[in-house]
Amino acid sequence: VEEWRILPEAKDAVAALEQAANYLKTSDTPVAFPTETVYGLGADATRSGSVKGIYAAKGRPSDNPLIVHVADLHMLRELLGKERDDEEAIPSRYRTLIDRFWPGPLTILLPNPQPSKLAPEVTAGLTTFGARMPSSPLALSLIKLAGVPLAAPSANASTKPSPTAAQHVKDDLDGRIEIILDGGPCQVGVESTVVDGLCEPPVVLRPGGIGLEELRSCPGWENVVKAYKDHSEEGKAAPRAPGMKYKHYSPKARVVLYESTYKDGFDGVLPSDIGVTGATENGNAQKTNGHSPKRIGVIRTQRWKSGAGLECGALQPAPVDSDAHDDEYLNPAYQVYKGDLKNNQGEVIGELFDIDLGQDTKRIAQGLFSALRELDRRNIDTIFVDGIEGELDIAAAVMNRLRKAASEIRS
Ligand code: TXA
Ligand code: MG
Repeated sequence: VEEWRILPEAKDAVAALEQAANYLKTSDTPVAFPTETVYGLGADATRSGSVKGIYAAKGRPSDNPLIVHVADLHMLRELLGKERDDEEAIPSRYRTLIDRFWPGPLTILLPNPQPSKLAPEVTAGLTTFGARMPSSPLALSLIKLAGVPLAAPSANASTKPSPTAAQHVKDDLDGRIEIILDGGPCQVGVESTVVDGLCEPPVVLRPGGIGLEELRSCPGWENVVKAYKDHSEEGKAAPRAPGMKYKHYSPKARVVLYESTYKDGFDGVLPSDIGVTGATENGNAQKTNGHSPKRIGVIRTQRWKSGAGLECGALQPAPVDSDAHDDEYLNPAYQVYKGDLKNNQGEVIGELFDIDLGQDTKRIAQGLFSALRELDRRNIDTIFVDGIEGELDIAAAVMNRLRKAASEIRS
């Protein structure tokens, strides 16, 4: 992998961006680039060969459509088969959203004209395409310099948590792509909100960086409804039967999610009804790292305050491994703490690794994927996560991703 590190202060940022842009125009291998949500794996959305390269690099099924990233509204109007200055080109329903949230973490569905400038692989056979204007200056510059819209999914290997740092991309795609633009950690940390305003009422297809409450405050979007499953439909049957999990956003470790409705937290004592011998119990060998003593990870948020009720003894800062990229892995750079894991007889049966993402919902979103990846890197068997409340803001996106990552949900 030829890596160009162009932030925070590299002088040759422009040269690096130009090189990446030229590469995008001619190569069929995608380029990883930062956005404010997560890192994307970009290709020229107008060339089939280029877009096919994305599916090949990610190992992603090609029936899942890609988001088209544009640098400005001129570019988008042309994709709609209209003049670049045609103010009426974009369906008027979207005007308030575009004014308020673009550039930013919002994807809108638009009709794909026939004939279309987009390669057919972008839309996976649908009559619509998803478009977004990212706010990351690097992403915008890259699209502008390439002069073409970029189709880009998240730059993770299919099924892994989305990457929020360049190193995450490298871990997943090393050897499969040649260029990763490193723009530092992503500010939002979860993907864009996907909305469909072509139907009545308009719907949210995927919760993300923009919450329902913000959407509903825009004229024309007061009665937008959720078209994704939230807790009430999805998490009811708890704990969810092992093996029934979605293969999505998953670390290697097994994830046990405690919904905010669950009365007890995790106190450092291994719950006797949690089968941490996971390999045999869930019949899913790769979901445990299979060694003894047990290694448990805890991702703490609003309820499981650091230290509160923890019976695992004093938590010590856990030294980072000797890998070169330790300092850039967790984003923001949370401290990982370490303590004893006990069974309910009080015997030490393993090690506990603890990450506190804090109370602030935005910061929890920002750190979520990197925390899952950080614990995976430490060969954890099972990760216990403290779920958060709220379906109106970015908490909805956090819980949506966690429910998909979890093999067990306690509610
Ligand atoms: O924040 C993001 O959106 C990131 C960054 C890189 O921009 N991208 C991203 O892409 O998350 P991806 O491919 O991982 O997710 C795209 C989502 C999928 O849920 C897909 O089903 C939906 O957008 N999508 C795209 N086009 C669609 C369409 N025409 N109709 C319905 N859903 C669509
Ligand atoms: Mg993705």
